[in-house]
Amino acid sequence: MTPTRTRSRRRVAFLSGWSALAVAAAAGVVVTALPSSAAATLGGAAAAAGRTFGAAVSDNLGDAGYVDILDSQFSGITPENEMKWDATEAAPGAFTFDAADVIVDHARERGMAVRGHTLVWHSQLPAYVQAIADPAELRTAVDRHITEVAGHFRGRVEYWDVANEAFLDDGSRRPSVFQTVLGDGYIEDAFRTARSVDPDAKLCYNDFSIEGVNAKSDATFEMVRDFTARGVPIDCVGFQSHFVLGQIPADLQANLQRFADLGVEVQITELDIRMDLPADAAKLAQQAEDYATVVRACLAVAPCSSITVWQVSDRESWVPSTFAGQGAALLFDEDRAAKPALEATIAALGG
Ligand code: XIL
Repeated sequence: MTPTRTRSRRRVAFLSGWSALAVAAAAGVVVTALPSSAAATLGGAAAAAGRTFGAAVSDNLGDAGYVDILDSQFSGITPENEMKWDATEAAPGAFTFDAADVIVDHARERGMAVRGHTLVWHSQLPAYVQAIADPAELRTAVDRHITEVAGHFRGRVEYWDVANEAFLDDGSRRPSVFQTVLGDGYIEDAFRTARSVDPDAKLCYNDFSIEGVNAKSDATFEMVRDFTARGVPIDCVGFQSHFVLGQIPADLQANLQRFADLGVEVQITELDIRMDLPADAAKLAQQAEDYATVVRACLAVAPCSSITVWQVSDRESWVPSTFAGQGAALLFDEDRAAKPALEATIAALGG
C-alpha cells in the first residue's frame, strides 16, 4: 500500500498544497521539482519521501509566531485536546465542535492532513461516562459519541484514532469503564461504528510504549492480527513515541515492520524526546541523533506514512507539566528557535 494512497476520487479532488506535493512525490513526480526552500522544511522533505510531517495543535492559532512555524514547516495537524470526549461531549448529548473546527479549518485551508484524536479513550473522559454501569446504556453512549463526532468531521479527517491506550504494560486490557462494562469487544465495535459513519477515513489504533517489541506491543499486535484476519475495519496503528533521551528502542524499525506486514499503515503519532532539564549542548546533540533515528526507522518501512510531533515548540509541550523536571522535548525551543534536532530531522528525511 502506498503511504499516501487516498481512498476515494472525491478525496483526491480536495488535495492541495502539502498533500498534493506528497501524492506527486509518492508517484515519483515532484522530487526534482521541489523548490529547495520547501525541501528544507519538515513538510517539504517529508513530502519528497512520500510522507506527512505533522504537529499537534491546541489553542495556539492566535499566536502569529507559532502559526508562522506551523504553516511553513508542517504538513499535518492533530488537535491536541479538542476532539477528546470531554471537549466534544462534556454533557450527555451536548456536542461542541467549535474549538476543533478552528484547527481543522486551518489545516484544510492549507492542504494539511488531519489526524482525528480520539474517539474511545479512558482519559479526559467525563465523569458521567465513567459512571455508566449498564452495558446497553454504555453501548448506546459510545455509539452516539462516535456517530456524532466522526459524522461532524466526515470528509475533513484523513485518519481517526478510534481507540487509544487500551492496553497495560503487561499486555492485559486496561480496566477502563469500556473494558469492565462492555468487555473485549468494545474496540472492534468502535471500529465498525466509525467505518459506517465515515467510510473514507482511515481508522487507527493508537498507544504508547508499543514502539519496541514487548508484552504490550505483542498484545496489540495480536489484536491487530486478529482484526485483520476477521475483517474488522482497521487501517493503521499509531505509535505515540513519547520517548526519553537516548532510549529509542533498538527494535523500533523491526516492530513497525511486523505491524506493517499485517497489511496496515503505521504512523509515529505523538513524537517527543524529553530530557532532564536544563538542556545542554550534549543533550541536544543526543536528541538530534534520536530524532534522526526515529525518522530513519519510519522511512525504512514503506507503509510508515506519517510522523507527528506532539506540539510545535517546547513552549507548548505537555512534558514539563507532566514529567517533573523534564522537558525540551520538541524541535523548536521555548523561544521558538530551531534546535539541533530540527536540522537532523530534515536531513534524515532527505531534505
Ligand atoms: C495530552 C495533552 O498533550 C495534554 O495537553 C493534556 O493535558 C493531556 O493529554 N497520549 C495521548 C494524548 O494520546 O492525547 C495525550 O495528550 C498525551 C498522551
